[in-house]
Amino acid sequence: MGRDEDRSLSIRGLSYALLDRRKMKRQILASVDLDVRKGEFVSVVGPSGCGKSTLLNFIAHLLPIQAGEVDVLGEPVHAFNPKIGYVFQQHALLPWRTVIENTELGLEVRGDGREDRRAHCREVLAAMGLAGFEDHYPSEISGGMRQRVSLARTLVAAPEFILMDEPFGALDAQTKVLIQEVFINYWERNRRSVLFVTHDLAEAITLSDRVVVMSARPGRIIADHVIDLPRPRDCEGLRSDPKFLHYWELLWGALRDEATRAMQVAQ
Ligand SMILES: Nc1ncnc2c1ncn2[C@@H]1O[C@H](COP(=O)(O)OP(=O)(O)OP(=O)(O)O)[C@@H](O)[C@H]1O
Ligand SMILES: [Mg+2]
Repeated sequence: MGRDEDRSLSIRGLSYALLDRRKMKRQILASVDLDVRKGEFVSVVGPSGCGKSTLLNFIAHLLPIQAGEVDVLGEPVHAFNPKIGYVFQQHALLPWRTVIENTELGLEVRGDGREDRRAHCREVLAAMGLAGFEDHYPSEISGGMRQRVSLARTLVAAPEFILMDEPFGALDAQTKVLIQEVFINYWERNRRSVLFVTHDLAEAITLSDRVVVMSARPGRIIADHVIDLPRPRDCEGLRSDPKFLHYWELLWGALRDEATRAMQVAQ
């Protein structure tokens, strides 16, 4: 990777171990190195339990670093950083706030005026297919809709670096393609740096500039592929592109043995 100022994320030698309930040491991450350029969309794929969510939690300063270095937007991670947005694997909406009240949370904390933030939130919620649901509570909407509210809440705050942990995992196949399109459209207009975790290789290829593959636990990066497909991306059309199949085979080749290993470890 080029000069330091071109980087929005730089991780060097990040390792992490914890003691499980039987006080046995469990290595979760093993010397992870990873860079993301400014405005680059990078996906992380890897078997279940390999440490993907853990990796994002270090970047968001939700876990204290034991070994290694993590720099985001030119600074070592040392505190909560409002320039980082995080769409969690579980939606994490506040049950006592309505859809729009959840969406405007970050803008409210930042001190934006009520009228402005409401107008902005309505716009983003409509783009997510949630017009008409602004005044519903999280318990009154489906799981997939909650996930979209969570995405809207992150996007309205326009973070410079976006962490996304399987944000579309709970969506049915049709809604997923529609939301991927809405999201990639938004991203292609704004070009924020994104680190995106997914189980879905097709999703990773469709959205990303680069896809990295993590090994079974302890997680480390075992493959790193540039996805050279034209933008703006046509999420549905792309799947019949021979290059798409080529990337899928390449990534699955790297992932297959790790997924098998992860299942054997889990038994
Ligand atoms: N408090 C804990 N005690 C023991 N093990 C833990 C604890 N927290 C996490 N782990 C282990 O850390 C590993 C990594 O967890 P993590 O949630 O980062 O995986 P992941 O790659 O995000 O998995 P998934 O794809 O299923 O979301 C797992 O093997 C998990 O069992
Ligand atoms: Mg996870």
